[in-house]
Amino acid sequence: MNLKGRSFLKLLDFTPEEILYLVDLAAELKDKKKKGILTQDMHRGKNVALIFEKTSTRTRCSFEVAAHDLGMGTTYLDPSGSQIGKKESIADTARVLGSMYEGIEYRGFEQEIVEELARYAGVPVWNGLTNEFHPTQMLADILTIKEKIGRIKGVKLTYMGDARYNMGNSLMVVCAKLGMHFTACTTRKYFPGEALVKECEKIAQETGGTITLTEDVTAGTKGADVIYTDVWVSMGEPDAVWEERIKELSPYQVNSKVMENAGEQAVFMHCLPAFHDLKTKVGREIEAKFGISEMEVTDQVFESSASIVFQEAENRMHTIKAVMAATL
Ligand code: CP
Ligand code: NVA
Repeated sequence: MNLKGRSFLKLLDFTPEEILYLVDLAAELKDKKKKGILTQDMHRGKNVALIFEKTSTRTRCSFEVAAHDLGMGTTYLDPSGSQIGKKESIADTARVLGSMYEGIEYRGFEQEIVEELARYAGVPVWNGLTNEFHPTQMLADILTIKEKIGRIKGVKLTYMGDARYNMGNSLMVVCAKLGMHFTACTTRKYFPGEALVKECEKIAQETGGTITLTEDVTAGTKGADVIYTDVWVSMGEPDAVWEERIKELSPYQVNSKVMENAGEQAVFMHCLPAFHDLKTKVGREIEAKFGISEMEVTDQVFESSASIVFQEAENRMHTIKAVMAATL
């Protein structure tokens, strides 16, 4: 398998074999890290630029630690600290950074921006989240599912909440690619876009996967191996949408009834950050305004033994390391 020079923009660009290769490489790198085996010789002396037009904890830290572990230097460009898009076009930025760095990570808004960056950079570009896709998160999720459930093909994953944004889209794609059974369980308005659903159905036909869209919580979560959710309002969306999201998505909150219906072995996953208590500023503001103390997942489920969210978060680092190790 040779992925050298490839950008990592969305999983639709990769074959199932390539995706599984990256997951296996991540497992290998994770094992080395746990044993204290250093990997600094893999890319010693190289440098990568990390562009974040939206905030981040996991993705930024994963890229920085992984780059260091591979022997590389990093430059972090924060949401306000560069000229990108304000005084300098994406194409010009790409050519400048591409001349100084061996690779570029981009987190921001439209998918088209990261695609354009990759067209002009001349070095691999990695998507650290756009409105449409979050592909590095998918590798971490698949590695976590493999570790916890012991298989990938045939696994039944139900996504609840806003399924038409980066997380819903990406999970539908990765499930289709890897022969898994994906269910978007939410109100019709939040189903993934029709064109992407069609594309994924076509892929799933070849891999043995299935795509289901349902508004019925009982049917949609019955027998699921994985119950997955994400915030109801994503980064970059206006505060004004909170009220309708709470109203429309509350029936799709992951609570103990959902987990019980899913089955004894079911695990709970979330890309994080999550609103499951009042220990955040936004959580407290929402409580003051709308009177709810938990949103997409109850604190009980989040803190339960079925919840594998912190293992999932750790795996962000190992999988991002695999992406850089393989494409540089
Ligand atoms: N899951 C995820 O991408 O987290 P951050 O926003 O903290 O990077
Ligand atoms: N849908 C969320 C994912 C965060 C990792 C967002 O875009 O804010």
